Amino acid sequence: MSKKIAVALIFGGRSAEHEISLISATAVHKNFDPGKFEVRSLYITRAGLWKAVAAPSTDIRTLERGPAFSFLPWQAGPPANGSFADIYFPVLHGPFGEDGTIQGLLEMAGVPYVGAGVTGSALGMDKALAKSVLRDHGLPVVPFETVRETDWTKDPAAVLRRVRRALPLPLFVKPSNLGSSVGITKVTDRAGLPAALATAFRYDPTALVEKGIAGRELELSVLGNEAPEASLPGEVIPFREFYDYNDKYIDGKTRFAIPAALPPRTTARVRALGIAAYKALAAEGMARVDFFLEKETRRLYVNEINTIPGFTEISMYPKLWAVSGLPFPRLLERLVDLGFERHRRRKACVERDR
Ligand SMILES: Nc1ncnc2c1ncn2[C@@H]1O[C@H](COP(=O)(O)OP(=O)(O)O)[C@@H](O)[C@H]1O
Ligand SMILES: [Mg+2]
Repeated sequence: MSKKIAVALIFGGRSAEHEISLISATAVHKNFDPGKFEVRSLYITRAGLWKAVAAPSTDIRTLERGPAFSFLPWQAGPPANGSFADIYFPVLHGPFGEDGTIQGLLEMAGVPYVGAGVTGSALGMDKALAKSVLRDHGLPVVPFETVRETDWTKDPAAVLRRVRRALPLPLFVKPSNLGSSVGITKVTDRAGLPAALATAFRYDPTALVEKGIAGRELELSVLGNEAPEASLPGEVIPFREFYDYNDKYIDGKTRFAIPAALPPRTTARVRALGIAAYKALAAEGMARVDFFLEKETRRLYVNEINTIPGFTEISMYPKLWAVSGLPFPRLLERLVDLGFERHRRRKACVERDR
């Protein structure tokens, strides 16, 4: 029998999505085939300290009990070296996890890991930058204006004029750099724009003002490195006016259509667009690409990419693969293979460079 692969799940973390990460990591842990993998668990506390734990759980109090160590070498603590596992799997959502920071740490350590690299992760987390890159690749994005807090403070009238000239009502105002629908406001009256910007600036110094799209919300799972593949698309049917934080995590009244009921041509277009967006944004391993399908015009827009999508038992990413013929345990195997493959390719480049 061949040796089992040791996979280290990294979960918890400093972002507001700490608890979602615990739920995702618990599901990932459960779905790794125990015949092929030995799963180890690295928990990052809400304060950013690290510790090895027996398994992921949603019991934060127990997870946080006992000593944890800092990853910073000039602070005390055991070294977290490459021998802890064969490959690392960050199951961390939001800033300090999905944004390239932990990927940078893993690159520095020279270890294989699952998912996108530094650039793909950072681009995916920054909505304004991602949209600029998508637009540069000729991919359809919802019309938008980027507003920096310093510009707003200096000359609010100029910002209001710029937005008025560029975008019709309703508007969606969001922080450029977050997830989970935090800090997002729908603006139906221009008088509401200053307050909506102030809300967005609480979370990020850059806000995105977008044209509001009336239509359907579609999501697609993409998997791969050089030759990514797409699942069937799914649909999110929000309970409220939009898919807000309550709807996502508290009420649980959102409905999902997995797969989405779409004409075959639309399905094909979503898949092609999703793969193009994935490549444009330098994603690797996995990502969920989200779209709007405008009701009136039937136009498709790429909304955003999530390089570490939700991984709970009921999350869109694994569910879409399951209905596309790839069950959760097989999906995890593919992700590990892709992580090793990417590591080998990068290592070959570094060695050629010497
Ligand atoms: N331009 C828009 N038009 C219509 N609805 C939008 C728009 N932007 C965001 N929304 C609504 O807000 C939700 C969250 O916005 P999104 O950009 O996906 O941010 P997050 O990263 O927080 O998920 C979307 O799922 C959608 O329901
Ligand atoms: Mg979203």
